Amino acid sequence: MVIGITGATGFVGRHVSALALTQGHEVVAFSRQPTAPVAGAREVRSWSADTPPDLSGLDAVIHLAGASVLGLWTRKKREAIRSSRVLGTRQLVAALHQSPSQSRPTSFVCASAIGFYGNRGDEELTESSAPGTGFLADVTQAWEVEALRAQAAGVRVVCGRIGLVLGSGGGAWPILHTVFRSGLGGRLGSGRQWTSWVHVNDVARLLLTAATHPQWHGVMNVVSPHPVTNTELTRTLAQSLHRPAILPVPAPLLKTLLRDQAGLFLDSQRVTPKVALDHGFTHSFPTLHTAVKNLIGN
Ligand SMILES: NC(=O)c1ccc[n+]([C@@H]2O[C@H](COP(=O)([O-])OP(=O)(O)OC[C@H]3O[C@@H](n4cnc5c(N)ncnc54)[C@H](OP(=O)(O)O)[C@@H]3O)[C@@H](O)[C@H]2O)c1
Repeated sequence: MVIGITGATGFVGRHVSALALTQGHEVVAFSRQPTAPVAGAREVRSWSADTPPDLSGLDAVIHLAGASVLGLWTRKKREAIRSSRVLGTRQLVAALHQSPSQSRPTSFVCASAIGFYGNRGDEELTESSAPGTGFLADVTQAWEVEALRAQAAGVRVVCGRIGLVLGSGGGAWPILHTVFRSGLGGRLGSGRQWTSWVHVNDVARLLLTAATHPQWHGVMNVVSPHPVTNTELTRTLAQSLHRPAILPVPAPLLKTLLRDQAGLFLDSQRVTPKVALDHGFTHSFPTLHTAVKNLIGN
């Protein structure tokens, strides 16, 4: 298949592109810098949240572009997080509607995030759980509404609610690795909050499976089958790196330092990948121990 990937230059996008190539697909990357080459991509096309992209010749689209949620959430930052996703997805869906029906991409896989569920304590969350509240919950709901509008053009849509992605070369892992390897790691807040993590290889496999298999549609949680509490995350990292983790970071300190963004570390989301498991998907890295062992090995 010829697969268009927005955000192909990013952390997840690089892994999705690499796996697509090894599976024999061709990749057309979309970037705000279309003149810069993207490893392995047949072609790089222009991406902007203001104009519909050129989708000609594509069989499927995987949409990962969006401003990073890391950094202080100033008013400008919040606007960038929201508009890069909501308006960007609106343009992409407009382009799907405008494509001639006989050559329109047949599938559209849109990133979303488990931020959709908000802060939910010990509740076990599946794809059919109700949405939560808060900034990220609002953004992800609006983002998914835009994506699902592609169904009206006869396109198969899958929204992947991605958890905390662990992998080399981006996301949270390099920071976690550095902090824990220095012996400075520690429980955050009460440590009782759930982290629904996922290895980046499983993210790439899930997104590509959804893009290429007609039986996948609707929403899917892109997380491992074994979420952990922050206490367990801390213990696993410290033991795997043979370092102590005795410095807990109190919730009030995190809230003072990070303000609203502290929710990224203190909110609890115990998410199950029910749809993927029901489809018979087998994670390569089902437990945090296997994932961390692999990442340390890398
Ligand atoms: N990593 C995680 O743990 C995680 C968790 C949940 C959900 N997600 C979601 O998964 C998607 C991919 O995540 P990622 O970690 O790969 O992100 P990333 O490394 O930050 O890459 C995202 C890509 O989006 C493009 N981009 C950046 N700022 C933009 C802006 N203001 N407007 C439009 N495009 C912009 C960039 O591509 P160009 O510079 O080439 O245009 C960038 O390479 C994101 O939508 C993210 O919200 C990620």
